[in-house]
Amino acid sequence: MFQPLQRLNPDAILGLMAKFRADTATIKVDLGVGVFRDLSGNTPVLECVRLAERTVLDTQSTKSYVSAAGREEFNHAVEALVLGSAHPARRERRCRTVQAPGGCGALRVGAELIRAAAPTATVYVSDPTWGNHVPLLGSSGLRLERYPYYDAARHELRFEAMLQRLDEAAAGDVVLLHACCHNPSGADLHASQWHALIELMQRRRLVPFLDLAYQGFGDDLETDVAGVRLVAENMPEVLIATSYSKNLGLYRERVGALIVVSDTESRADAVQSHVLQIARSIYSMPPDHGAAIAACIFADPRLRECWLTELAVMRDRIKEMRGLLARHLRAAIGADSFDFIEGQRGMFSLLGVPTPVVDRLRDAHHIYMTSDSRMNLAGIMPHNVAYVAAAIAAEFIAAPVSV
Ligand SMILES: Cc1ncc(COP(=O)(O)O)c(C=O)c1O
Repeated sequence: MFQPLQRLNPDAILGLMAKFRADTATIKVDLGVGVFRDLSGNTPVLECVRLAERTVLDTQSTKSYVSAAGREEFNHAVEALVLGSAHPARRERRCRTVQAPGGCGALRVGAELIRAAAPTATVYVSDPTWGNHVPLLGSSGLRLERYPYYDAARHELRFEAMLQRLDEAAAGDVVLLHACCHNPSGADLHASQWHALIELMQRRRLVPFLDLAYQGFGDDLETDVAGVRLVAENMPEVLIATSYSKNLGLYRERVGALIVVSDTESRADAVQSHVLQIARSIYSMPPDHGAAIAACIFADPRLRECWLTELAVMRDRIKEMRGLLARHLRAAIGADSFDFIEGQRGMFSLLGVPTPVVDRLRDAHHIYMTSDSRMNLAGIMPHNVAYVAAAIAAEFIAAPVSV
């Protein structure tokens, strides 16, 4: 049976991690893996999580099954966190939310829902986009296309080209959008661009699918979902995949949710029945532990306050490193070519250099990033920023990239 299977190449990020671990240089910098790191290089367990976990363990009376939808109180809290407590779609009972195994699980269930409802729909993903979007959505059998989003060499959005491409989409096609902190570019839509995009999606009768993996990593929990709320207010049908891997640091616990907005309450019930059947047929029900912790934090004002403080610390650390790296690069090359890093949002930016430069940064300077030159800014530390800037400047000056 297994004879036809050839060994696959390792996943690019996992391969990069292995190379980094094997690198024996005394100074080496990991800007590859997409996890937050504190100043000691650790990906911490948040204090609010530690406290909530204790409560969960102390009060848990059973390990019996939950349900395909997961924890009800978690799902309600997620809806309020993402859409706000008074959002019209919630008031009109047109939202249904199910807990999912991380953002990946939510994206995959969403893809299967689209496949069940509209098997011939095309899903448009941004160019560039997070490396896992294509396998996650594509393996459900849906056709994928790309829309222009960001010019890495010029460090700017390609918004007009994006609108032009989406204007050619067929009614019922789906547009996957990064709700905030675009991965890998760090470049987000402005309010006026969200409005223009919504006008186009309404006119072309497209269905938005929002990926919200970094709520709170851009400006704050509310500001980061302004685009999501606007879309959900103005479009009859919306899918939203949320993740609590980054903003609660619950990566390995697999905590996420899929929110689906439908045009009527009864259609929302029908949609929910399909979502539950899909969940049941893939993993039956989501893992409970992480969602129990998250629900405890969302519900307890003291823990929630603690979370907001810790979230701000993570966000500010990344922002600080953005500013620091941009300043060091400006000094090192005597030009503002990399100032864009400071103004972008979330954990990632694209340095905007070709793969051979990425390879030289890794082989000659032991600085690791993905081949598209995506940097995780949480890998920058006050003690390595000068080293990183000098290496980038050396390579940039050796082979200035035509921008
Ligand atoms: C854009 C984006 N979406 C979704 C996810 C999924 O996150 P998880 O499945 O770990 O919750 C990630 C994680 O890196 C991401 O960057």
